[in-house]
Amino acid sequence: ERAIQVGLLGLGTVGTGVVSIVERHQNELAHQAGRPVAIKKALVKQIDKVRGSEVNGVELTTNPEDILDDPDLDVVIEVMGGVSETKQLLEKAIRQKKHIVTANKDLMAEWGASLLALAAEQGVDVYYEASVAGGIPILRTITEGLSADRITKMMGIVNGTTNYILTKMSQENRSYEDVLKEAQELGFAEADPTADVEGLDAARKMAILATLGFSAPVQLSDVAVKGITNVSGKDLHFCEQLGLTMKLIGVAKRDEGRLEVCVEPTLLPSDHPLASVQNEYNAVFVHGEAVGETMFYGPGAGSLPTATAVVSDLVSVMKNMRHRVNGYAAMKPLYEAVFKEEQE
Ligand code: HSE
Repeated sequence: ERAIQVGLLGLGTVGTGVVSIVERHQNELAHQAGRPVAIKKALVKQIDKVRGSEVNGVELTTNPEDILDDPDLDVVIEVMGGVSETKQLLEKAIRQKKHIVTANKDLMAEWGASLLALAAEQGVDVYYEASVAGGIPILRTITEGLSADRITKMMGIVNGTTNYILTKMSQENRSYEDVLKEAQELGFAEADPTADVEGLDAARKMAILATLGFSAPVQLSDVAVKGITNVSGKDLHFCEQLGLTMKLIGVAKRDEGRLEVCVEPTLLPSDHPLASVQNEYNAVFVHGEAVGETMFYGPGAGSLPTATAVVSDLVSVMKNMRHRVNGYAAMKPLYEAVFKEEQE
């Protein structure tokens, strides 16, 4: 049988990680898919940019049609970011019956429902594990691992950049600008880090978590947001002396059909489990009526951790192809039914 062929939209920090993992873990991936998998092409802005040798085998193009119109590609992985143009590219790919894996929380928080509806109509999958909490498989956890339960609350640190800034500012007494620059260089921050530091990136992730965890269409505009731009090193130091640690915390709660979702800098007792989450790490508490409290911890940003989430989605798509099921179709009733019933 021929290899499963993949087109990449974007070959930056995450895209390069995806190519590396597919290469390094080829045996594991092929075993699960029932056939080999290859990253065939990547859409880039500039062909002649200097890149690592791990991407040598990938054909580069600056024309999205080279990917969208290639009949040999089964899956399109989107790691280029952006919203409106990217949405058009993905809609076109879905209409060409290509399965989609995306890491794009901006896009999924705003247009997730419409892309998923189009995908269901066309009988293809859309997976987006990497859009929330980088390497922590939190979307799978709430949609599959805890599918027997009724989730009542999710709370945690879902932005690596701001957690990195807060950690380094308070522990190393460094300036906000200095640490932000380092987080950008390490590939944690978004292309425009405003979304990170103003809490929007975390808010989008909380909207996605709430949508899936509560089976309710939560939008970015439903989330109350405060970022960390007004936090000073002095504040952080003062808090530490009082036994308090500041974290940018997202909360999504449901109570008798009412939802509340917010993101804000929060003071935690320094011995709180979330207070010990450092640098680019993320952690999410999920509370279920039956299971009680669970906590998930791991790297929330960075090339290989985020790429792991992307490639695990690719594995899900490949398994669905192998067994001829549509993963999204299986999730759809969960997404639509529960919340409405609760409101009635
Ligand atoms: N900018 C994001 C963060 C990247 O810092 O968490 C991972 O989504």
